[in-house]
Amino acid sequence: MTSGVVPKSVPQVVGVYGGGRMGGGIAHAFVAVGSAVVVVENDEASAEAARERIEASLAKAVAKGERIAGAFDVVTDAGALAGCALVVEAVPELVDLKHDVLRRIAAAAPDAVIGSNTSSLSIDALADALPDPSRLVGLHFFNPVPVSSLVEVVVGRRTAPALVEAARGWVAGLGRTPITVQDSPGFASSRLGVALALEAMRLLEEGVASAADIDTAMTLGYRHPVGPLRTTDLVGLDVRLHIAEHLERELGPRFAPPRVLRDKVAAGELGRKTGQGFYRW
Ligand SMILES: NC(=O)c1ccc[n+]([C@@H]2O[C@H](COP(=O)([O-])OP(=O)(O)OC[C@H]3O[C@@H](n4cnc5c(N)ncnc54)[C@H](O)[C@@H]3O)[C@@H](O)[C@H]2O)c1
Repeated sequence: MTSGVVPKSVPQVVGVYGGGRMGGGIAHAFVAVGSAVVVVENDEASAEAARERIEASLAKAVAKGERIAGAFDVVTDAGALAGCALVVEAVPELVDLKHDVLRRIAAAAPDAVIGSNTSSLSIDALADALPDPSRLVGLHFFNPVPVSSLVEVVVGRRTAPALVEAARGWVAGLGRTPITVQDSPGFASSRLGVALALEAMRLLEEGVASAADIDTAMTLGYRHPVGPLRTTDLVGLDVRLHIAEHLERELGPRFAPPRVLRDKVAAGELGRKTGQGFYRW
């Protein structure tokens, strides 16, 4: 693996635990700037799928004229993480699975900083699995990672302050912009994005304006690249319903999902992926 061109602010050897949609993208981001990336997958079949996913993603970047400075390997043995300065976990959003994976990472790479790409779980709750909870920080990348420029750096109550600064530097080294957010439900991005979308849905169900006109209010009025209802179609209405229910539980009734969202999800109108959401696709 080549690593001579790694920017100072990005670790030379990085682990990614779980090479799915997000983990594959995170691996891509570090490989692009020259890190040697070790991806850990569950079994040989998932490892092969991850390998193909990352290779395809890097090939696409190369075809666009981007330079790829590093290299990656996909393994099924977490022991290969020894020597990583940073390990980012991106396994599915299940607290018990994440606890188990965090313990494995800490055992294999006791000195590594551990990043979690969780989109909704509490960093404090995840840190409970670790012998040293100060080494965990949230690194919330956005989908699709190769073309998203934001990373939320999520700070738990026990996260070491020096680690937050390091994480911000690494994100900048990836050519992304970090924002620092204290651990709280929905962090900043999901909470704000969902709040806007829920209010747009209430406008729609009260008959104040059409979906297209509500979206245009935001795209032309506030220069959002995509309106809140179209964004919901792209993300998936089921995904947003799930987040709204979580935020309602954690933050109260202002996040209660509007009727129109529940009805559409029940009817299988989940957005672009099913051909119908607030728009026909
Ligand atoms: N998809 C998104 O838009 C998005 C955006 C931001 C954050 N996230 C978060 O990123 C994380 C991963 O989501 P995703 O969409 O990439 O999921 P995914 O299902 O695409 O990928 C998960 C990967 O983890 C692997 N895996 C499962 N169990 C494992 C184990 N025990 N050991 C090793 N690998 C294992 C799977 O084989 C799979 O490749 C979740 O916490 C999710 O909330 C997702």
